[in-house]
Amino acid sequence: MTAPVVSRRIVFSGLGALGVAAALAGCAGGGDGGGGSSPAVDAGADLVGTAEVPVGGGVVLTDQKVVVTQPTEGTFKAFTAVCTHQMLLVTSVEDGSIRCDNHGSVYSAETGEVEGGPARSALAEVPIEVRDDRILAA
Ligand code: FES
Repeated sequence: MTAPVVSRRIVFSGLGALGVAAALAGCAGGGDGGGGSSPAVDAGADLVGTAEVPVGGGVVLTDQKVVVTQPTEGTFKAFTAVCTHQMLLVTSVEDGSIRCDNHGSVYSAETGEVEGGPARSALAEVPIEVRDDRILAA
């Protein structure tokens, strides 16, 4: 397996196994030990194209600390990508769940609520707006 050059966006398919992306995301924690738990987005910021967000999956935007999901076709959601367990970044979205492989927490890709793992608190929703084929912070 080769490690491709990966942009700041790591796209996860709801169907495929992207082990490379998961491995890369594993070292993408904030690492600031506090104060860095909020998404770094301003209202109106362009987050991602709708075509880049797979149905049932999502995209972890490591720079912005936001995870954008598409739980059902045409419905987009965004949450902080900072896991509520130990404030590391979540690592993937698949099969309708946001996963943090750092310690195994799982969140709903539709609501951000905890579905499993050590995390006890939901991921905070980030308001978004879909304009044409782009998803913007609202
Ligand atoms: S930081 Fe996400 S499960 Fe621990």
